[in-house]
Amino acid sequence: MAKVVVTANQKGGVAKTTTASALAAGLKQKGFSVLLVDMDPQGNLSDSVGADNMSELTVYELLKNETEAKEVVQKLDVFDIIPANIMLAAAEQEISQIGKEQRLKEKLEPVMQEYDYIVIDTPPALGLLTINAFTAADEVIVPTTAGIFAATGIKQLYDTIEKVKKYCNPKIKIAGILMTKYNPRTNNDKDMKELTEKLAQYMQVPVYNTFIRNSVVVEEAQSRKTNLLSYKKNSAVSEDYISFVEEYLKGEK
Ligand SMILES: Nc1ncnc2c1ncn2[C@@H]1O[C@H](COP(=O)(O)OP(=O)(O)OP(=O)(O)O)[C@@H](O)[C@H]1O
Ligand SMILES: [Mg+2]
Repeated sequence: MAKVVVTANQKGGVAKTTTASALAAGLKQKGFSVLLVDMDPQGNLSDSVGADNMSELTVYELLKNETEAKEVVQKLDVFDIIPANIMLAAAEQEISQIGKEQRLKEKLEPVMQEYDYIVIDTPPALGLLTINAFTAADEVIVPTTAGIFAATGIKQLYDTIEKVKKYCNPKIKIAGILMTKYNPRTNNDKDMKELTEKLAQYMQVPVYNTFIRNSVVVEEAQSRKTNLLSYKKNSAVSEDYISFVEEYLKGEK
């Protein structure tokens, strides 16, 4: 039975997508079978791993109940993915029946046995798409950058997850907060890391010891549609993500 892990933060550009694909690749390297699900109408995850989100069915048709999970899964070299494109932006309005928060969870059920992990990437918003991911989730990983707005936004995210826990998914929990795009040489980043740690302590949410350093290698890999860990596995940022995956797996035990 797959464990479902979601990367989420309503703040844009904090490395949700980068973390989802690096986590998936890292889990794959450890021998686990992984399905990625792109729940962001921007389709960044689909694009960055080279999925076909133009001529094939996507998560949009899946959420609209027009198809089944096995019909939309694409098998790529490194992992399997259910892609997304801009059509998904319409789903929030179009799925209006009772049980709308449960749709993704229901539609993933038939493939749950086929994977060890399902990693879901979400858009920078706390709307129905993210709520659908939370309803399907065992755990949420919260990537965040060292900025004041990023730090304060985590409380709002936490409150949303608490509501989901109450109404839609009692088992959901925040696995941890992951500091990304981190520059240990700047004082601001150090201060913000401390602030995030204090906030996390207050909410009783763990912060990963591993932090992901800022590096141009991330964007290089994405523009080449290559996974970061395959692109330059000895770069500092790949090493950070590998350490993160190891720390994540230790937390699972
Ligand atoms: N460790 C890093 N070092 C440098 N740049 C990074 C790092 N991680 C991510 N980036 C860059 O930051 C930008 C945002 O990353 P990403 O798309 O993963 O964030 P996101 O939270 O998914 O964004 P969105 O909210 O738009 O979905 C991208 O251009 C990416 O290449
Ligand atoms: Mg993204």
